[in-house]
Amino acid sequence: MPASAPIRLGVNIDHVATLRNARGGQHPDPVKAAAIAIAAGADGITAHLREDRRHIRDEDMARLKAEIDKPLNFEMAATPEMVEIALRTKPHAACLVPERRAEVTTEGGLDVAAQHDALSSVIARLAGGGIRVSLFIDAEPRQIDAAARLRAPAIEIHTGAWCNALADGDSARFAAEWDRIRAAAAIASGAGLEVHAGHGLNYQTAEAIAALADVVELNIGHFLIGEATFVGLAEAVRKMRAAMDQGRLKA
Ligand code: PXP
Repeated sequence: MPASAPIRLGVNIDHVATLRNARGGQHPDPVKAAAIAIAAGADGITAHLREDRRHIRDEDMARLKAEIDKPLNFEMAATPEMVEIALRTKPHAACLVPERRAEVTTEGGLDVAAQHDALSSVIARLAGGGIRVSLFIDAEPRQIDAAARLRAPAIEIHTGAWCNALADGDSARFAAEWDRIRAAAAIASGAGLEVHAGHGLNYQTAEAIAALADVVELNIGHFLIGEATFVGLAEAVRKMRAAMDQGRLKA
């Protein structure tokens, strides 16, 4: 059996900024958190500049790009404002997400199938700026087909429903969501898309999903920043890296 590709860990530092913004000022600094995460084994940093700037701010994005030495993944809504900022910032990658003002977090995937034309021009503009685009979608074959038709280089599978099922102790739903994710990863990889995954992952779910050879990147934020309050960010990232490596052995 050929060895599977290594799996990358993107650490999302949005919630360091959430904590900073709770009091205003500069502490804790998300860029410092990014440096600590990288030193502890993160392969890249992810940050979501939301329209309402509730956590990451424009200057955080500029500093992340200038000060970190690993790939920056800019999570963004496919709006003209965000496209302009991305083209100015020139991150390594952009992950297009749906955004609703009232949501607590990104609650569902993009409806790629329904937004083909609008997304097509956004992907072309970002790609023209040298930015690798991924589309954050639910684990649905219809959305994967639409992403492949758009010739997006990558998708990120929304793992929130699976992780919520675990948190709710609903084993039937957990198993059903897992089957959907497994099937989606295989279909997407077969269609030539690079497969990423994220949302709601913890040590247990990251280890499980790392066993899927088709998945080459996980983006993880809330759990890690929460764990950091107990064990420190570096230790939380090291434990996550170890959980993913352990899972990968089963790929
Ligand atoms: N990937 C995407 C596209 C997201 O929108 C988010 C949340 O910002 C994450 C990954 C990380 O999710 P979590 O913070 O639940 O780990």
